[in-house]
Amino acid sequence: MSQHVASAVPAPAFRPPAVAAVPAVSAGADARQARAGAPGGSPECPVLPVLGLDVRVPLVTGGETTYAALDYAASAPVLQRVWDEVAAYAPYYGSVHRGAGYLSQHSTALFEESRATVARFLGCREDDRVLFTRSTTDSLNLLASAVPEGTRVYVFESEHHAALLPWRGLHTTWLDAPRSPEQAVAALEERLHAEPAGPKLVCVTGASNVTGEIWPVRQLADAAHRHGALIVLDAAQLAPHHPVDIGELDVDWVAFSGHKLYAPFGAGVLAGRSDWLDAAEPYLAGGGASRSVVREADGGVEVEWQGGAARHEAGSPNVIGAYAVAAACRALDEAGFGRLVERERTLTARLLTALAEVPEVEVLSLFGAGSPGEAAESRVGVVSFVVEGWNSSHFAAALSAEYGIGVRDGLFCAHPLVRTLRGAGSEQRGGCGAGGTGGGGDLNAVRVSFGAGTPDEHVERFVRAVRELVRNGARWNYRTVDGRCVPEERPAAGEAADAAAGGRGEAPGGSDGGTARSRPEPGRVTVS
Ligand SMILES: Cc1ncc(COP(=O)(O)O)c(C=O)c1O
Repeated sequence: MSQHVASAVPAPAFRPPAVAAVPAVSAGADARQARAGAPGGSPECPVLPVLGLDVRVPLVTGGETTYAALDYAASAPVLQRVWDEVAAYAPYYGSVHRGAGYLSQHSTALFEESRATVARFLGCREDDRVLFTRSTTDSLNLLASAVPEGTRVYVFESEHHAALLPWRGLHTTWLDAPRSPEQAVAALEERLHAEPAGPKLVCVTGASNVTGEIWPVRQLADAAHRHGALIVLDAAQLAPHHPVDIGELDVDWVAFSGHKLYAPFGAGVLAGRSDWLDAAEPYLAGGGASRSVVREADGGVEVEWQGGAARHEAGSPNVIGAYAVAAACRALDEAGFGRLVERERTLTARLLTALAEVPEVEVLSLFGAGSPGEAAESRVGVVSFVVEGWNSSHFAAALSAEYGIGVRDGLFCAHPLVRTLRGAGSEQRGGCGAGGTGGGGDLNAVRVSFGAGTPDEHVERFVRAVRELVRNGARWNYRTVDGRCVPEERPAAGEAADAAAGGRGEAPGGSDGGTARSRPEPGRVTVS
């Protein structure tokens, strides 16, 4: 068991009464117990309240329905608790680390408390640093800027671009996407064994943003360390779905994003060893990172940089963002991560079972786990698939326009992985967003993703929609505009009324109800 950070958080001299109502940071041991799932707690798995569940969106077939946000892997909805805590703090907002006023002191204390909360959430070791950044992308670029000269970097081609690209300019080796967790460990081990001595860094994902498959992080960390390499974990997709304990996983750094962890206020985290960070030039040069700046007689400038977290947090800190991330960490810990994981597995198994019953649907998988139940054990709530005879952009557009379901289609900023999964040649090119026809559009997949705030109904509606679209085709015409598939304009007034009569005024379910005069031949896409 890892040690928790002995917090050097400065206690606020005094707190505005309203802020005292903000739930106190939970003690590390309590949080950890809650994370494991409270024994004797409610057998019912909690669905954490999130914003947006009652938002209604128009359906192209007429009427409207509640929005089903099934794109958590891109950005998760805001936890109600995070929103409430941010709102409670907002009147007391002030500058951080640079003001003498009451609210500046208060905000500074809250910022540092947030750092300590994140450290506990990640099970940080005593001398680990927690840096607030903008996102996972920012965190990994920050680390890349601190890599000592001569370091060799190793990444699997299956990573998100945020984990593939920051190392450009360094001696970087891309490893082929492995076809099993064991193969991943063996491939890394073999590669590192063959490498010369010297500083090395391995960057791995915790859970794939394409397949949702969980990677053997502890085993990869052991392999890296056996060969003298350090390892950074891209936990952008793992942390919102699964406990991440930096000590238990024995990784050197962890990066994640607030907006995927129900806290979309522009903050991310890089946590881990301090040595490379302390020795590096500041990631950004500016106020906050500099202890003293002196103009010298010869025209030069003498800068003394800060140590600690401040060294890499130049500029005015995003206290609301950091506080929101901390609030999300507390909410997940206190809800009992164990129970959240269980519920998500149940939903994932249900989804995979339903998709397996539709022969036209192919779920993308790198590791190829057996039955849907087994697969759900080793995945987070992220599933990508393609549908025979459908352009994925068209399928995603129909899910949105006809069912009010928000998913993502494309290559998910993991082009090499999607190409490997879809068996395409590396010469093909694709946009990060959807393509219509040709180019990367042919490789596109649909991704459905969910989490702690997803009601069962959203997954049920999605499954029903997939079945109906595959069986009956789309009920509307679509065309491609600027690389995205969009519904054709509504017909003129008279026809629109007919169309609305043909549509149900709700997301369709069960049998296909009625044919609008404007109803197209199913699934027709035109490119304009
Ligand atoms: C696995 C993974 N890593 C990194 C990122 C980048 O995260 P952000 O866009 O928040 O920087 C993402 C975003 O989708 C991701 O899924």
